[in-house]
Amino acid sequence: MAEKFHRATFTRNFLKTITRIKNPDEMIAESGGLEKTLGVWDLIILGVGAIIGSGIFAVVGIAAAGENGAGPALVISMIIAAIACIFSALCYSEFATMIPVAGGAYTYTFATLGEFAAWMVGWVLMLEYAIGFIAVACAWSNHFVQFMSGFSNVLPAWLANPPVWLSNDPFTAAKIAAENPDVFIPTFLGVPICINLPAILIVLLMTAILVKGTKDSAKMAGIMVAVKLAVIALFVIAGAFFVKPENWTPFATHGAEGIFAGAFLIFFAYIGFDAIATAAEECKKPQKDLPIGIIGSLIITTIVYVLVALVLTGMQDTSVAVPADFLKAPMAYCMTAAHQNWAAGLISIGSLAGLTSVLLVLEMAATRILYAMSRDHFISKRFQKLHPKYHTPALLTWTVGLLAVVGILTLNLDVAAELCNYGTFTSFIIVCIAVLILRKTDPDRPRPFRVPFSPVVPVLGIITCGGLMVYKSMQQSGSALLFPVWLGFGALIYLLYGFVKNRLNENKVHNEKVAKKKLELYK
Ligand code: ALA
Repeated sequence: MAEKFHRATFTRNFLKTITRIKNPDEMIAESGGLEKTLGVWDLIILGVGAIIGSGIFAVVGIAAAGENGAGPALVISMIIAAIACIFSALCYSEFATMIPVAGGAYTYTFATLGEFAAWMVGWVLMLEYAIGFIAVACAWSNHFVQFMSGFSNVLPAWLANPPVWLSNDPFTAAKIAAENPDVFIPTFLGVPICINLPAILIVLLMTAILVKGTKDSAKMAGIMVAVKLAVIALFVIAGAFFVKPENWTPFATHGAEGIFAGAFLIFFAYIGFDAIATAAEECKKPQKDLPIGIIGSLIITTIVYVLVALVLTGMQDTSVAVPADFLKAPMAYCMTAAHQNWAAGLISIGSLAGLTSVLLVLEMAATRILYAMSRDHFISKRFQKLHPKYHTPALLTWTVGLLAVVGILTLNLDVAAELCNYGTFTSFIIVCIAVLILRKTDPDRPRPFRVPFSPVVPVLGIITCGGLMVYKSMQQSGSALLFPVWLGFGALIYLLYGFVKNRLNENKVHNEKVAKKKLELYK
């Protein structure tokens, strides 16, 4: 009997099965394992904590003055990226208040587009959160090494200037070694050995903190957010005295092309507000607090970014070739160039704090999505086990942390940030589509927060995010090719693993029902 049921779902009902929708009521009923500790301020702090990081402390230099830099028109790029995010943020808010359970876009897709689409969104979100986590950990390592080099007079050489093979990923180390033959990289059986120790240590530390508890993590993120906002304020205020208005012309160094390329790149700087939605299950009052948390943190960061872009491009002429240090750490570089070393030092500390809080939230979001996927039988149920004392998914968090370490040891990070953008754009587009679908299929469901002017806002969200994605795909880049490969792998894993696991579970439930019926008959 069970075998028959199993085979039938694998063949005849295939299409019906992979578009199986999970009822939001079922999702809400299943939720509730995680502790509810987060209030509105915790959410805003988590949001700003997740958003402001390597985007504004590093990527901004490349977006303004890189190969196809936007120049002072970077402010326009930032506003374009922010608009794309605001449309999606409104859609996220509608869902997060309607279905306040862990999983974010993955969960919303399951409620509207069905099992396969949900799996694919979960898979794509791993690009955003897990690959983003690895990319930011490596950016943290760069900033840390740069910061320590400032203490070369007092610290031992191995700490102030660590060897290249102990502070870089293999691809970056190979590039450095190619430019500088004196750089030593050990090999084992001909394979270069590179261990980005600072990145690995920060990942393990973040993992341990997350296992200890979401509330504690939010508290720590609070301190980091205060530090990073303080140093950004310092940069804007002190930097304003060194702005030369003539640096703002030409305004758009590479015209519209530079502005759109900048918008795609700087989109990375906004990633993270959606992470708040993944913690919906841990909110005290999700209906009221989530929209304020999501939209509030996005507005705060947009204002901060525009101010930074104005001062930065006013201090440094971005129409000419800029020094490599400007591309790596633009704010600290501008302050050093203005002979304000004390401010440059403080900015380095702020950027480390900023990147640390981003790491915390990205890892938390990755674990919460996998937690929801485990609840839906896509991955092992064992990952749902909560820590007896801290009530956090400890096994899952450590698994994500250790996988990130493997990623740090093996991935090419040049394409990681771009892939992360592709993943995020896709999830935003799907959330906008999902809002439109659920408004049609379940119009009476209570919506504590409604996207204003629907369907205009969700459609604009789809157009802006889709437009930036298509624009980037038309340029030559490794990530544009790798993204479809990632999707293909995801579909394959679904067919060979996720689909099978789900059917086996249905089989188990079916068998249990049959056994129960038999028992009742024999009674
Ligand atoms: N928005 C995050 C950052 O800029 C990912 O680091």
